[in-house]
Amino acid sequence: MTSTQDGSVVIFGSGLIGRSWAMLFASGGFKVKLYDIEQQQITNALENIRKEMKTLEQNGILKGSLSADQQLALISGCTDIKVAVEGAIYIQECTPENLDLKKKVFSQLDLIVDDKVILSSSSSCLLPSKMFVGLKHVKQCIVAHPVNPPYYVPLVELVPHPETDPSTMERTYAIMKKIGQSPVKIKKEIDGFILNRLQYAIISEAWRLVDEGLVSPSDLDIVMSDGLGMRYAFIGPLETMHLNAEGMLDYCNRYSEGMKRVLKTFGPIPDFSGAGLEKVHQEMCARIPVDPAHLAARRQWRDECLMKLAKLKSQMQAE
Ligand code: NAI
Repeated sequence: MTSTQDGSVVIFGSGLIGRSWAMLFASGGFKVKLYDIEQQQITNALENIRKEMKTLEQNGILKGSLSADQQLALISGCTDIKVAVEGAIYIQECTPENLDLKKKVFSQLDLIVDDKVILSSSSSCLLPSKMFVGLKHVKQCIVAHPVNPPYYVPLVELVPHPETDPSTMERTYAIMKKIGQSPVKIKKEIDGFILNRLQYAIISEAWRLVDEGLVSPSDLDIVMSDGLGMRYAFIGPLETMHLNAEGMLDYCNRYSEGMKRVLKTFGPIPDFSGAGLEKVHQEMCARIPVDPAHLAARRQWRDECLMKLAKLKSQMQAE
């Protein structure tokens, strides 16, 4: 049963990702201070969170055991950085993906935080060694990279700076578990972390196959959504290997030569430009026109699917 937690959490930047984090921390019973340099962003975020939590509650899919009103009472806005970080045990930075800006933000925080608070960045692809360079509190710094939309997709990649204290990793891991997310510990920073390295490998081969005219863009997407994706929502590629034969050794014994043969035929990194791009763009626009209304409707449908999938996954885990 979720009860309220000691110590507050600061969401530093109340845009798309900051709002999701705020909802997740409130669902885990944390007091949340939403900080931003723009008062209007905070006002919009609070309103947006209120509407979303009410809808989730009406549909019976609000996370945590507190009611929407109880969760909403835990979230407040703040434009004074010192007031925001006072008493905080965890700060989740969610400012735009810009190295200079993030370095500036963490330098600001470095001057006013205590020796215990966790300084965590939502960065999708900036390396901790670049972002947290020269900070006095570097041992308390970590990247906690969520996946959009974080309320429905629970993975969080935890990426340490070379000087991050192991206890920062452990504490961040425990906090993520407490709010119902699914953290993974990346042992050493690497460009793209893990999720984007896998994603880019898939995008790259998908692009080459379409570019070479071997398959249409829509059929390519079906291969993922009705093929690989069906099992990947429940088991990863390594478990797939283990189950698709009599264990991993048998799988490699049977299939490694074939895998190596096919892998040798993979082409160079695509340009993602020119005629190839135009062709994919045209086909995608025919499927989903690029005006805000069509894109928003499709995103909403995607989020509903993800929400139902998340529900199914938690039922399956409970069995
Ligand atoms: P966003 O543009 O929606 O929100 C950024 C917020 O930061 C705005 O409210 C802005 O007013 C505020 N801000 C700007 N400068 C600030 C400062 N100096 N101090 C405090 N607040 C400031 O950005 P979004 O999409 O929420 O991304 C935030 C972070 O999350 C980025 O690092 C991004 O890479 C990462 N991320 C984004 C994902 C996505 O799909 N959008 C997925 C995973 C991570």
